[in-house]
Formats: sequence, structure tokens, C-alpha cells
Amino acid sequence: MAKTKSAYFCQSCGYETAKWLGKCPSCNSWNTFVEEIIEKPASNIPAWQPSGSSKKLNKPNKVANIASSTEHKISTSDLELDRVLGGGLVAGSVILIGGEPGIGKSTLMLQLALNIPGKKVLYISGEESEQQIKMRAERITENPAADCYILTETSTQHIFKQIEDLEPDILVIDSIQTLHSSHIESTPGSVSQVRECTAELIRFAKETGTPVFLIGHITKDGAIAGPKILEHMVDTVLQFEGDRHHIYRILRSIKNRFGAAAELGIYAMHGAGLRQVSNPSEILLSQRDEELSGIAISATLEGARPMLIETQALVSTAAFGTPQRSATGFDTRRMNMLLAVLEKRCGFRLGTRDVFLNIAGGIRVEDPAIDLAIVAAIISSHEDISISSKICFAAEVGLSGEIRAVNRIEQRISEADKLGFERIFVSKYNLKGLDTGKFNIEITGVSKIEDVFSLLFG
Ligand code: TYD
Ligand code: MG
Repeated sequence: MAKTKSAYFCQSCGYETAKWLGKCPSCNSWNTFVEEIIEKPASNIPAWQPSGSSKKLNKPNKVANIASSTEHKISTSDLELDRVLGGGLVAGSVILIGGEPGIGKSTLMLQLALNIPGKKVLYISGEESEQQIKMRAERITENPAADCYILTETSTQHIFKQIEDLEPDILVIDSIQTLHSSHIESTPGSVSQVRECTAELIRFAKETGTPVFLIGHITKDGAIAGPKILEHMVDTVLQFEGDRHHIYRILRSIKNRFGAAAELGIYAMHGAGLRQVSNPSEILLSQRDEELSGIAISATLEGARPMLIETQALVSTAAFGTPQRSATGFDTRRMNMLLAVLEKRCGFRLGTRDVFLNIAGGIRVEDPAIDLAIVAAIISSHEDISISSKICFAAEVGLSGEIRAVNRIEQRISEADKLGFERIFVSKYNLKGLDTGKFNIEITGVSKIEDVFSLLFG
């Protein structure tokens, strides 16, 4: 009998070595090596190989001579998903969807499989039984499309055999961590298995032009489980996120070879599946009658999409020696920087105060244009003076307390205008060349934090 061959793999980046190492020389993480058996039996069922074409050698080709793909993007009938994909599905693309357990990845994919018009979809599940999927399908839709097939299978070789008979137009794998290829001995979910199964599926997608969705688990720290190279291998990486206690879910594109990254789709999880949210601003602004201190509204952009988001701050006297600083939905380091700017440049004594910050709706914002609203919310809470709910902000704050211009200001202003805001604070430098006459909203250009405060709090 042949000797079992094994190797050690870094679980974080996929680096392979013959010996166990404490520290990965490739990604510098500690204690990530796990032994995996990689013996490849000589005779076996082949991996995906379309008849005839497998041994064809590719030749260099002039760009001008390559026929451009005339195929348009396929609409998935889910506007949010289309937006995140950059307009629709591209033939032969491989899309990885990551997210915490229970966030709704399987629901999203099954919904796509059941609703996409005129396409034969094969949904492969290694996690649930046919009956469980049927029950879920019944929750989602009353009349499931006839052209959605379910296969509960985990071996890639068997899957490819079924695919040859069925010839689906779209393939969904739930999840990549449950698959195993008989070319590799190690257990499903291990680095080498995940890598091999993904490679086989990518080969299949590219050669047949079938779009493939891969559902991926994520680790404790929120990264997609398996080697980082998984994200390099696929065309598009989407992250499904949200707070499980809220009904809202956000689908974010992290990488997209066929569209803009950082696009955003918003869903609400209901008893009967996920529903698209087309007017996010309305849900992200809390309904309130009285004006409270510590609240400021920011006109942000996520991807190409303008959204008005409420930021809430609470500044209180520190009960212990070291004041607490905590932020939900916003980078704590950036909050600390803004606090330092307020302390040093504007003379607010915040050093002995606890500061808590929260972005409404359980979402995460990375747009720097939220800075001014955060600063305003903090001072509003510190001074205990409310800011009118008809005012919003869109500007970045620099280290010397200057108010900096942000991109696509016109889009932000028109969204605020549409939602009935009466005044927006922007950077003075954003006003150049801006046609302010076409908006009803009053646009105030400012250049220093002090200017904002004297206008707001007198
Ligand atoms: P699921 O798609 O199984 O999550 P994942 O595949 O990411 O692990 O989602 C499961 C959660 O969604 C579960 O807690 C129940 C809830 N859910 C609804 O609220 N409504 C629905 O219609 C469905 C199908 C699920
Ligand atoms: Mg699932």
C-alpha cells in the first residue's frame, strides 16, 4: 500500500509546508498550521473535464482579434442582488457569498433559484435535506418555479456527473465547506479540500459559461473560512451581514471583477423570506416626535447609493478613572481621532468623559462623510442641546479641525432634498461649481468645526 502523504497547511492563507511551523512565513499568523492528508490515488474518477476540449493548448491571441462577449448580464429578478453584482450575472462567473450562520445565505440563494425567470437552476446542498429545503421554499414562495432542482450531494465528482445530465444554467453550492473531491484525502472543510473543490468548480464555470454561486462559512473574526486564496480565485466576493436581532441584512460586494466593489444591497428578513428594501433612508432614520440631544443625521454614500443615516452619541461623566470609548458600526480609532480633534482644536473637555457612539439600524459605515455628523452628535450630547431633525451633514473632518470636501456631493444633497431635509452642512470647498439653485434645501458651506458649532448651538 502506498504511504499516506500529508502536508501542513496554514488555515489562514493556505501556505503549504512539509513540516509543522509555529508561525506562517507567508502571512505571519501564529498557530495556524494543521496537518492534512493530500495523497492522490492514481486511478480515480476524473475531475471536471468536458469531452474533447481538455487537452487543447491555448495560443497567444491579439486583444483586437478576441471576439468580445456580446452576452449581456443576466438579471436575477432581484434588484438588490443585481445592483451588488454590477448589473446582473455574468456568464461563467464564480461568486462567493460569505456570512455568519443564520444570517440568511441559504434563504437568499434559494430565493434566487426559485425566482429567476427562464433559467434552469441546480441548487446543491450539503447541509440540509430535500425536505428541509422544500419547507423553506414553501415559506418563500407559493408557486416554486418548475425549473429549480435540488440535489443533496457533497462529492464533486458525483455533482459533475449530475450536471452533465441536467445541464443547468446556474449552479448554487450550499456550502463550499461541505464539498469534497476524491482527488484529495483530507476532510471536507479543510484548506486543501476547499481549494481543490473551488478550483474544480471554477474550471467548470469557465469552460461551460455557467455562473456558479458558492456559499462560504465565515470564521469567528468574520473572514471567509478557508484559505484567503479562495477570495483571489473567485470573480466576486459578497458578504451578507447584519445584526441577527434586527431584521435588516446588508449584502456588500468586497471584490467584483465585473462591477464596482463596495456596492450595497439591503434586505429585510420577514417570515416569508427576504424582501428587498429600495428606500433605505426611511428605515435608517428613527421615527421620533421630540428632538433629543446626541442625534445627528449624515448623508452618506454606500457604493453608488445615497443613504441618510442617523448617528447617536452619548457623552457622560466617566464613572471610573479611565473613560470608556465605544462605537458600534463605526471605527473606534477614527472616533478617538475625532475626539482628539474636538479636544485640541475646539477646546471641548472630553478627556474625562465616557463616549458611546451608535449607528442606527445595525449597519456599518465606512464613508468618511459621516465624520461631521459624528462630531455634531458628540457635541450635541456633551452640551445637551438637540439638533433639529431637519438638518443633516455630509463632510469629512481633518486633523486640524478643517471641514474637507467629499465626493459626489450633488447626489448626497439631492437625496437629503428628496427626503424633506431643510438644511445640509457641507464643506465650503464642495460648493465650487455646484448649482445650488436647483435644490430646495438650504446648503451651508463651512470650513472649520467652530463655524458649524456657532451656527448650530449659537
Ligand atoms: P438561513 O438562510 O438558513 O441562514 P444561513 O444559510 O446563512 O445559515 O437563514 C436562517 C434564518 O432566517 C433563521 O434564523 C430563520 C430566518 N428565516 C426567516 O426569518 N424567514 C424566512 O422566510 C426564512 C426562510 C428564514
Ligand atoms: Mg445555510
